[in-house]
Amino acid sequence: MAIISSKQQPQQEPNKQPKQRRKPTDETVKPPETIELLRPEATTDEQGKQEESIRPQRFADYIGQKDLKDVLEIAILAAKSRSEVLDHLLLYGPPGLGKTTMAMILASEMGVACKITSAPALERPRDIVGLLVNLKPGDVLFIDEIHRLTRMTEEILYPAMEDYRLDITVGKGPSARTRSIPLSKFTLVGATTRAGALTSPLRDRFGLVQKLKFYEVDELSKIVLRTSELLKTPITSDGAEEVARRSRGTPRIANRLLRRVRDYAEVKKTGTVNEDIASEALELFQVDPCGLDWTDRRMLSVIIEQFNGGPVGLETIAAATGEDTQTIEEVYEPYLMQIGYLSRTSRGRVVTPAAYKHMGFKPPNQQMSLL
Ligand SMILES: Nc1ncnc2c1ncn2[C@@H]1O[C@H](COP(=O)(O)OP(=O)(O)OP(=O)(O)O)[C@@H](O)[C@H]1O
Ligand SMILES: [Mg+2]
Repeated sequence: MAIISSKQQPQQEPNKQPKQRRKPTDETVKPPETIELLRPEATTDEQGKQEESIRPQRFADYIGQKDLKDVLEIAILAAKSRSEVLDHLLLYGPPGLGKTTMAMILASEMGVACKITSAPALERPRDIVGLLVNLKPGDVLFIDEIHRLTRMTEEILYPAMEDYRLDITVGKGPSARTRSIPLSKFTLVGATTRAGALTSPLRDRFGLVQKLKFYEVDELSKIVLRTSELLKTPITSDGAEEVARRSRGTPRIANRLLRRVRDYAEVKKTGTVNEDIASEALELFQVDPCGLDWTDRRMLSVIIEQFNGGPVGLETIAAATGEDTQTIEEVYEPYLMQIGYLSRTSRGRVVTPAAYKHMGFKPPNQQMSLL
């Protein structure tokens, strides 16, 4: 595996910032300390060697995502039996669910190298050309944040993906000619958190398009148990489940919370981490029992208190929480929907009775009858 670019990207695109933030009042100000632990994006600490040591290296260690694994296992077997390269693959889904990990596993299962880069590092045409001409037969080229490619880079990729060919223009003006250079057959694995932002010509060139889903608590528990073994932190299965429940369906958050729990257990000299110690530690770090953060809670309480549980529109929720609509749609809503706290109707967002209960409100009668 070769890391081509580890250039750190800003965690949010500039255009993701809300255009108009509501003037903060006491209850609309996000307390800084509660949010960081539950953000799904990787922190600087999580991009180093330590993180690599807990990243699964083989299919067998990659827990959950059964549908994705089934599809890819067949694709790998078929490609191997025909001695062909794997189809180009687009992986999409929220941050921290295992897209980069899967790309690396694919390469290692195919017995080829994985070159890793990300779209913002491919600004000039020569960046992508340099990568493509150096690929060996069968190699995996992994491009993170692929929805951010420039148009020029995308256009270079089209013939490369389709016919393993590089078309370059030599000379200028009337004497300019196009020359084709053959490339080794390779597999492009693209990752994005925003499949909808991909241009359709690019999306159409992927033979396989796969979505990553949030993990269930039992899957996350297994991930926590696996990581705690690697970190040499003794933990009971109840302890692992407690960490898993608060991890927002996201392995990256589960591993992060486990590290906090480990610190706590070490300092308090409690020995094996059990359910009580895990919950004590996570209470201390103000992690909600269901992994809700300030914005989730604010969203739910606004819909309950000001809109009688909904339906309420996305724009209104955005204004009340100071988040932009895109982040709400891509980060907050999917998790709240996954745990059954929010549902999306044609008339807007509706809070479920389970969310009323979690937030300490009495569900309205009408909703109770739906239970
Ligand atoms: N299925 C899994 N089983 C075990 N651990 C996992 C799994 N998926 C992810 N992880 C762990 O979670 C961490 C984050 O995964 P990864 O970096 O692959 O996420 P990502 O989807 O690429 O995130 P981003 O969108 O931020 O790039 C990894 O370091 C790995 O340790
Ligand atoms: Mg990644």
